[in-house]
Amino acid sequence: MTRLVALFACLLWAQATLAQEAADAVAPEAAGAGALVLSGAAAEAQDAKAQGRPVEAQDWMVVAANPLAVEAGARVLRDGGTAADAMIAVQAVLGLVEPQSSGLGGGAFLVWYDGQTGEIITLDGRETAPLAATPRLFQDENGEPLEFFDAVIGGRSVGVPGVPALLAEAHARWGKARWRGLFREAIDLADKGFAVSPRMALMVARDAERLALNSNTAKYFVPRGVPLVEGTLLKNPAYANTLRILAQEGPEPFYTGDIARDIVEAVQNAAGNPDVLSGVDMAIYRVKERPAVCAPYRGHNVCGMGPPSSGALTVAQILGLLVQNDIAQLGPSNPETWRLIGDASRLAFADRGLYMADSDFVPVPVEGLIDPAYLSRRSGLLQGDDALPTVRPGRPEFDHSLNLAPDDPIEQPSTSHISIVDRFGNALSMTTTIENAFGSRLMVRGFLLNNELTDFSFTSHRDGVPVANRVEPGKRPRSSMAPTIVLENGKPVLVVGSPGGSRIIGYVAKTIIAHLDWGMDVQTAVSLPHLINRFGVYDIEAGTSATFLASELETLGFEVNFRDLTSGIHAISIGERLMGGADPRREGIALGE
Ligand code: GLY
Repeated sequence: MTRLVALFACLLWAQATLAQEAADAVAPEAAGAGALVLSGAAAEAQDAKAQGRPVEAQDWMVVAANPLAVEAGARVLRDGGTAADAMIAVQAVLGLVEPQSSGLGGGAFLVWYDGQTGEIITLDGRETAPLAATPRLFQDENGEPLEFFDAVIGGRSVGVPGVPALLAEAHARWGKARWRGLFREAIDLADKGFAVSPRMALMVARDAERLALNSNTAKYFVPRGVPLVEGTLLKNPAYANTLRILAQEGPEPFYTGDIARDIVEAVQNAAGNPDVLSGVDMAIYRVKERPAVCAPYRGHNVCGMGPPSSGALTVAQILGLLVQNDIAQLGPSNPETWRLIGDASRLAFADRGLYMADSDFVPVPVEGLIDPAYLSRRSGLLQGDDALPTVRPGRPEFDHSLNLAPDDPIEQPSTSHISIVDRFGNALSMTTTIENAFGSRLMVRGFLLNNELTDFSFTSHRDGVPVANRVEPGKRPRSSMAPTIVLENGKPVLVVGSPGGSRIIGYVAKTIIAHLDWGMDVQTAVSLPHLINRFGVYDIEAGTSATFLASELETLGFEVNFRDLTSGIHAISIGERLMGGADPRREGIALGE
């Protein structure tokens, strides 16, 4: 017991250290922003994060990856806007101040709890493959998969962006504020300039060589060959103009007008790696409402985004496989807890690799994969004492006969998550991405184009058997994004999501377990050091107390690996009061009133 307490104290210590580092990293941004200095409330929110405390509020709350974006959303919520209105303001600013992660040139999934009807609605704003794309898009002339960055950089990886259409769809369904006003902060910041944040500067420095490959992109991020540094006052007049067009005319020019023309031209003429995206692809893009995937977990209903995302299904599988075990009693410091979570995750990832893809193109056994009877049977595999030596996909109930080959996933962490609750009782969970940091590295009219198509499997067939997530014309690549809303008695109690490639799934599952099973407040749950297993190797967050579990996990038979695990979990718990938690590993904050 003494050991347990000591380990737990270490966990809290590590999280306080991480939080302090993050706060130190954020402070110069505010100081350097001149006219754009953050409000007192934002500074208090940074202090709360540094001290590992959640931000509390009564009426509304917004949590996102950059303080300037959060303040834009807070202004909308304070003025009586809805969570959908606030999300538009947040996304518009994120596209400017966190351009490496998300923006107009990317895609997103949105989960909405409707305060009036009690419904959960999920919108798919994922990118689509061009109609001229083939399963061999990411293969060389011998049918061998391309190297990841050979596929990413240039036009080949660019799917039709979904974000502008998703913003308009969310506003049409749930907005109360005037559309035009929602872009105000972003336009102002783009015109007058914002201070490059420490994280943006770090990402630019790491990627300077690739950013320099395209002249437009190089001019902005690596002017005169020198990567942007932290605190630089950066203006983006091209982005301001694009936002003005969107604000005045809605998304049409983006899909059928001048902006569409410029996107197609950039993709088709990308030096060395052009692609076949056409004006028709842009014009036929549609946001799709999809059935929400909801699964029970200890008296709660965990709801999220179904195919083409694997997020909700895989999170639900992990939780459903664990439900037979008393994770609450075992606690966060016990190696047995992590044996169970790690192997449950491996089992879920095996099913994900075989069955999950865009269900408009491939039948996906959605109900079978989260059927409690299937998961209960499969959880029998967890009843040993040691790590599973091998993991194979299971056989869920399925009304199709289908022969599929496992996929070939390469997914790099990037992306951004927004959680919002408004005064009308609505809750929004949206994960938004341009895929790899800086996407395809093609920049058009002040924003970056995604490389989302590399979320498809590069291998299309194995021994003649097709892979579910192969490239097909008009298809949406499988995602790991897991924007989630957890309900209890039909009411939302937790809004959560994260960036991080396919590790998103583990970050979200762990935060749900930490909050529901271990009773941690949202900030503590978000900050808790990570242990993530997807395909066998146990990733343990370097420099945190989680490393103390490594030798015991090795004794259980896991291979372990210490590394940075830069999640960006943003969560709101909803009880008598709203509590917000922002990930200390990135620059975000929670603000509420
Ligand atoms: N590109 C990140 C994801 O969709 O999972």
